[in-house]
Amino acid sequence: MRELSGKVAVVTGAAGGIGRALALRFAAEGMTLMLADVDHGGLAETAAMAADVEVLTQIADVSDAWAVRHLADRCFGELGAVHVLCNNAGVFQGGHLWTRADKDLDWLLGVNLWGVLHGVQAFVPRMIEQDTEGHVVNTVSVAGLFASPGAGGYSVSKFAALAASLALAQDLAATGAKLRVSALCPGAVDTRIGESARNRPPGLVTTPTPDEVEVRERIGRAAGRGLDPAAVADLVVTGIREERFLLLTDEKYAARLRLQTETLLTGHLPDPR
Ligand SMILES: NC(=O)c1ccc[n+]([C@@H]2O[C@H](COP(=O)([O-])OP(=O)(O)OC[C@H]3O[C@@H](n4cnc5c(N)ncnc54)[C@H](O)[C@@H]3O)[C@@H](O)[C@H]2O)c1
Repeated sequence: MRELSGKVAVVTGAAGGIGRALALRFAAEGMTLMLADVDHGGLAETAAMAADVEVLTQIADVSDAWAVRHLADRCFGELGAVHVLCNNAGVFQGGHLWTRADKDLDWLLGVNLWGVLHGVQAFVPRMIEQDTEGHVVNTVSVAGLFASPGAGGYSVSKFAALAASLALAQDLAATGAKLRVSALCPGAVDTRIGESARNRPPGLVTTPTPDEVEVRERIGRAAGRGLDPAAVADLVVTGIREERFLLLTDEKYAARLRLQTETLLTGHLPDPR
């Protein structure tokens, strides 16, 4: 889709970080916005920053199918169409896979995988029916391409989000739909991802373990040295215009993916670096 001006974009996780950068980038293109998040204050700030265009906001927990369906109902009802859907909301938690409680995995999978699937279920049928050009952008991660020590739960959720993106793209192509899909796989980005627990539902809170704390702090420091989220938003807009599926923030990840595939094909474990 080359022309974005006058079209409607939906962004989940829009209260900060990459989601806010996407919202502001789409606003700069002259798009109408529907922004969703669980963080009311951050969402209002993003909306105020994008005040040059029409902006609607909605408190929505993407792990809740009903909340995402309600979000879609509002979009199609009040804005009449959806052209770009960014399933971006996500959370991080570290720790060895064997120390993760069910509640940890429920939280990670609920937001990072079910959030994407709920977006697909609630929006894609109506985007197909609309019969216009459209684009779904799922925020995955390089953790959806490579498993690193101490981030197993997050990687499981992000590998699954990549699988959902590939499957969606293949289904849309096979059925001749006008929608395209991108899987956004950033490396470290300067956001509050290391503080994801700030928005964790009370019913899914667990006691931090030393391995979890160590990885969370490491990820927080890496994010602090990471890319400006605005650069990631630029990459997404280029990806939509050029209809690119895999969006990598650095060429080094392409080289690493090739090496990982070659190593796996020898039957050996890839180097995690
Ligand atoms: N920052 C990085 O280094 C990095 C790298 C790769 C991928 N990602 C991915 O980017 C996406 C955005 O994260 P970010 O880095 O901007 O982090 P962030 O913590 O700054 O922003 C995430 C946003 O998602 C919202 N959110 C959390 N749970 C939610 C829920 N259940 N429903 C709706 N909204 C919810 C938060 O309130 C927050 O506004 C995530 O999917 C994350 O996994 C981030």
